[in-house]
Amino acid sequence: MLKIVKYPDPFLRRTAKKVTDFNDDLKKVVLEMVEAMYQDDGIGLAAPQVGISQRFLVIGKGDNKSHEVYINPEITFFSKNKELGEEGCLSLPQIFGLVRRAKKIHVKYQDINGLTQKVKLSGLDAIVLQHELDHLDGILFIDRAEEITKGQDILDSLKP
Ligand code: CO
Repeated sequence: MLKIVKYPDPFLRRTAKKVTDFNDDLKKVVLEMVEAMYQDDGIGLAAPQVGISQRFLVIGKGDNKSHEVYINPEITFFSKNKELGEEGCLSLPQIFGLVRRAKKIHVKYQDINGLTQKVKLSGLDAIVLQHELDHLDGILFIDRAEEITKGQDILDSLKP
């Protein structure tokens, strides 16, 4: 089972590298990430959170079984319409905060076979993708939070 890297591990602050090899190891680790995500009741997980500094992430589909994988994702459009919502993170357990994110996004990415795909996301999927993509750039939701709603004391005790 993959181990989740927890804040304030400096590994979470790295900028992840582009995926170039779409091989069986990648397929295997994606499935392990999905398992680790559901094990911890997560709805998204980025590779740096399991100690892999590469640009890919998984998003859960709510049925605790299926998933989507986004490799080398780029957001090509952010709606002007933004929404303030409460977020948490498997790398920051018991800490929650309010983050403002675009309600609709367009994403260009590669699938598990390396084929380029485009998708329009809204609702929870759009929020989760923005959160997970931040991990690929070393950004955590606490950096963007307008307010910490739960776990401020934990956060204070962890701050490097
Ligand atoms: Co996170």
